Amino acid sequence: MSIFGLPPLYTTLICATTSIVLLTFWNRRRQKSKLPLPPGPKRFPFVGNLIQAATSGLSMWQTASEWGKTYGDAIYLDIVGFPALVLNSQDVAVDLLAKRSSDYSSRPRFVMPVLAGWEWATATLPYGAKLKKHRAILQKYFLSPDVLNYTDVQQRNCYMFLQGLLDNPEKYDKHAHRLPVSILMMNVYGHEVETDDDPFVRLGEESGRALIDHISYIFLDLLPWMQSLPEWFPGTNFMKIAREGRVLSSRLRHELYTLTKKKIRDGTAKESMTTKFLGDAAANNTSNLASYEAEEEEFADVAAMVYLAGGDTTSTAIMNLILAVLKFPETMYRAQEEIDRVVGSDRLPTFEDRDNLPYVNALCTEILRWEVLGPFALPRCTTQDDEYRGYRIPAGTLVLPNVWAIANNPDVYPDPSAFQPERWLPGGANVESIRPMDYIFGYGRRICPGRVWVEHLLFITAASLLATFNIDRALDVNGEPIPIPNVVHDETSFIRFVSPSACTFKPRSEKAARLIREAASIGPA
Ligand code: HEM
Repeated sequence: MSIFGLPPLYTTLICATTSIVLLTFWNRRRQKSKLPLPPGPKRFPFVGNLIQAATSGLSMWQTASEWGKTYGDAIYLDIVGFPALVLNSQDVAVDLLAKRSSDYSSRPRFVMPVLAGWEWATATLPYGAKLKKHRAILQKYFLSPDVLNYTDVQQRNCYMFLQGLLDNPEKYDKHAHRLPVSILMMNVYGHEVETDDDPFVRLGEESGRALIDHISYIFLDLLPWMQSLPEWFPGTNFMKIAREGRVLSSRLRHELYTLTKKKIRDGTAKESMTTKFLGDAAANNTSNLASYEAEEEEFADVAAMVYLAGGDTTSTAIMNLILAVLKFPETMYRAQEEIDRVVGSDRLPTFEDRDNLPYVNALCTEILRWEVLGPFALPRCTTQDDEYRGYRIPAGTLVLPNVWAIANNPDVYPDPSAFQPERWLPGGANVESIRPMDYIFGYGRRICPGRVWVEHLLFITAASLLATFNIDRALDVNGEPIPIPNVVHDETSFIRFVSPSACTFKPRSEKAARLIREAASIGPA
């Protein structure tokens, strides 16, 4: 027999080679499917490992870290029917999420977030062409401070934050939330947040909390037929919640974007990612309306995502900063001593001081490690069957890097629950260790695009706050410092939100208060 009229020798060679390739492939697959799943605690029918986790008295990430002592760095769990792999060490997380990113860069698609209209949100997208477009936009505007000149906006909003603390110190959690959100709104839309009641700030806040809530409706993934029930049927309240979610999601995508376009037409828009994007898009697509509209839709979604992803995360980092100096006041004094020596008391710190403030930088690094704010980062999902260290990882497995376990590994970070900025200084215990920036922002192709922006903001906030204020525990009626409760972090959400503590913010001097007022009088942007 010959193929395509080829001489018989060639035909034989082609057939033999094809058979060998197919056999090898088939054999590999067979061997792979014979491999055991990674070790993990016993899985029970239907509930999997949920009951063990829920009754352990610890958070899910702490429980997984404890299990890691018996089962190792990659443990296999069943979460009510979802196969999940928890990665308890940095080596394993890098091996899978960064080095094998072609198979580990997707996200699970849960039913409720899609029903509630979040299918456009960058962080929920499966890996593919749309995600690449979103990430290209984010890289362009957020990976370097020069494109949006965001350091200037960060610095000026930081002065407004300090002024808020002078005027209403008891609302410090509100100021800590408003700071990153105001900057992002200015960076993304040129929108100036003027009051605590700004409707767009509220919209971002409500949307972020709603999305986190929607992710928790996992029963719909297990019982998808519930979506076809009539709305009057008991237990279908999720339909109403999904409908409200769709309204929020649509408002988030369109309201501020449309307002910004109107301001551009009126000539009142301030420079932002949107004005820059629309300027470039119009110049590049003058003759192609369809391409312009497609690009514009992608862009509007990315813009909304930034405002959704950056507010609660970064404000939690600022709340952790305040909590850390309250619990470990000696770190505040040491930072103040450095700032006084390097910056003096005649001006406020600026980004130019960054290289000369090693202790403040170390303090910011330690903030990101201590009390990590996103203990499981964001879940990934495998797209292919894989084999790792002799174990089989099936396609469709949820993958959760246990960032909490990595940050609290006592073999790497001695006394991990202590807040010790000096561990990062020359001669310190962790100067050569993995830095928190290498895990708290995730890994590989899905790594957080806001990480450089966050590091800048954390530095200027810490330096300016500690230069100008003493932060202390508030006193009770007997003049005794009110203790900080043991539990101030929410251990049930993707983000470990921090509750405010009873504390005081006193300007370090009259001069410090004056400097704040003068700087804040220039305005936020
Ligand atoms: C302290 C603050 C922040 C932390 C700890 C943080 C952490 C993370 C983590 C862990 C992920 C998932 C990465 C992965 O899957 O490997 C992520 C994704 C993301 N972050 Fe952040 N983030 C912060 C602030 C921000 C800010 C300010 C922005 C604004 C630009 C932002 C935008 C995003 C976006 C758009 C994604 C989705 C990326 C994707 O799915 O491809 N984040 N972030």
